[in-house]
Amino acid sequence: MTTSMTIDLKPTATPLSDDERAARMTNPGFGRVFTEHMVTIRWSEGRGWHDAQLTPYASLDIDPANMTLHYGQSIFEGLKAYRHADGSIVTFRPEENAKRFQASARRLAMPEIPVELFVEACDALVKQDRAWVPGAEEQSLYLRPFMFATEVGLGVRPSNEFLFMVIASPAGAYFAGGVKPVSVWLSKEYVRAAPGGTGAAKCAGNYAASLVAQAQAAEQGCDQVVWLDANERRWIEEMGGMNLYFVQGSGPGARILTPSLTGSLLPGITRASLLRLAEDRGYAVEEGKISVEDWQAGTADGSITEVFACGTAAVITPVGSVKSTDASWTVGDGGAGPVTMELRKALTDIQTGNAADTHDWLHKI
Ligand code: PLP
Ligand code: COI
Repeated sequence: MTTSMTIDLKPTATPLSDDERAARMTNPGFGRVFTEHMVTIRWSEGRGWHDAQLTPYASLDIDPANMTLHYGQSIFEGLKAYRHADGSIVTFRPEENAKRFQASARRLAMPEIPVELFVEACDALVKQDRAWVPGAEEQSLYLRPFMFATEVGLGVRPSNEFLFMVIASPAGAYFAGGVKPVSVWLSKEYVRAAPGGTGAAKCAGNYAASLVAQAQAAEQGCDQVVWLDANERRWIEEMGGMNLYFVQGSGPGARILTPSLTGSLLPGITRASLLRLAEDRGYAVEEGKISVEDWQAGTADGSITEVFACGTAAVITPVGSVKSTDASWTVGDGGAGPVTMELRKALTDIQTGNAADTHDWLHKI
């Protein structure tokens, strides 16, 4: 199988001026502004991966009977490029995103793009649009690799051709207001994923299915949804775009727990990285089960001191308060706790080049 191929570079003939680009990069928010280029690689049955190109960012021409529009064979990834003080640019663990993309592809009966080609595609876009990688604190270039079916037809079966793409978007804080605790709604009516379903895959449908619960959370005055297991609606799984961590106790003896990967939650790369960073700092780390009752009782008796969410887009965000149909409570003092902020700093310091990359997680572009 081809694991690497030449990406045909066809950059725009009319690049933006530095001033125009700077204006677009001011207060970028999340996912609203896109860089000047994109990468496309095609896959077809019998031919495999071919036609790798980097071209100006442009709209796609989609047939109304495109299979993705009807049956949803669509997966994506999210990773960030950071500019270091010396001007160099890195991405964070891109091979892990590539491997998870392969796992998502397998679950959705889609072809697996080789890890090397996935990383090469991200690198090519960042290299071309390197001026778009912000250098300011809390800012980065968010890369969005994705793949969808391109066959035209209404038969329900896997498409025989697909388009893989990478686009990029300069990003500030995911939640307006920076590191501000979020309030969460425990979703008991709707579930995100069930055993045997697609919860561990990063597929578009998971996010579509979550939106009604997100709207319910907003009606309840909460920022985000916390998903519970499908069977008992009791065990904490994750949030809409983030994994969850619970801190028990305080100081060097604190214990840190994250829900184990049951198959119905996303194996986050930030989650996995934090397991290592917490261990490095001497914390007792556990992947296990935690129920809504454990959370509520642990908060009441003071044994759960902090809870935070983590993910590429949201980095690490404290959870300040919890609400469900029958209860509500404040976590700790409702603010950002010391372990949360220590781990946040440990992670972002590596990503931004302010601490040694002891785990060899940075990929130089
Ligand atoms: N859970 C869900 C549902 C997500 O969409 C994400 C974001 O990618 C995460 C967790 C966190 O994963 P990662 O840390 O790899 O970004
Ligand atoms: C990410 O953190 O990359 C995500 O995918 C979360 C959300 C934007 C879907």
